[in-house]
Amino acid sequence: MIRLDSLDLSLDKKEHIRRLAADLTNIHLDFEYVSDFKNTKELRDFVSALTELVGMPKMWRNRFVLVTDEMNNNAIEYGSRPEDTNRITFKVIKRWKNIKMFVEVEDTGRWKAPKTADQMYKLKDEKLKIWFDSRDIWIRWRWLFLITRGTVDKLYFEDSEKWGLIVWVEKDIILEDWDLQEVA
Ligand SMILES: Nc1ncnc2c1ncn2[C@@H]1O[C@H](COP(=O)(O)OP(=O)(O)OP(=O)(O)O)[C@@H](O)[C@H]1O
Ligand SMILES: [Mg+2]
Repeated sequence: MIRLDSLDLSLDKKEHIRRLAADLTNIHLDFEYVSDFKNTKELRDFVSALTELVGMPKMWRNRFVLVTDEMNNNAIEYGSRPEDTNRITFKVIKRWKNIKMFVEVEDTGRWKAPKTADQMYKLKDEKLKIWFDSRDIWIRWRWLFLITRGTVDKLYFEDSEKWGLIVWVEKDIILEDWDLQEVA
């Protein structure tokens, strides 16, 4: 497992990814990092570089930075004790006209408000219902459930073997001709 927080910062992020992933059309990277907000910028920059390198359109790059950031912040805020180790996995499968991306974050479930996968599914239903019923513009829009609902194809929760929570998102992006030109 690679430590995200010990990557050589003098190296360009894209160069790092090229070294870690032999085949840019089929990437699978597993990282560990200390559960601390000080690592969040590093993670955002990493997702930005990874998605750019595989030729993802800008709108989707930004969305993945946001969603990953949200999953990571939640793992730190609710799931893992400070100084615990979180895990993040990225998978990208690239074909000529589509890019499939998966992101998975695992916390340790030892902090202030850990949850099981079942509790997360219930919470998701409750929060979406509140939002739909009220349409209250003051409700914080950054909710993981709202972002993922409008953005990714799938959002899964799973209990990890180490008693933590695994949050997983998945999106299949269909590339348009102008996206391919942007990459070329
Ligand atoms: N990794 C996690 N472990 C435990 N609970 C979680 C986890 N991720 C999300 N949650 C629960 O899901 C709720 C919704 O998360 P979400 O990120 O959408 O909102 P928030 O964290 O409350 O607010 P914001 O992200 O806008 O600051 C959280 O309030 C929390 O109860
Ligand atoms: Mg949050």
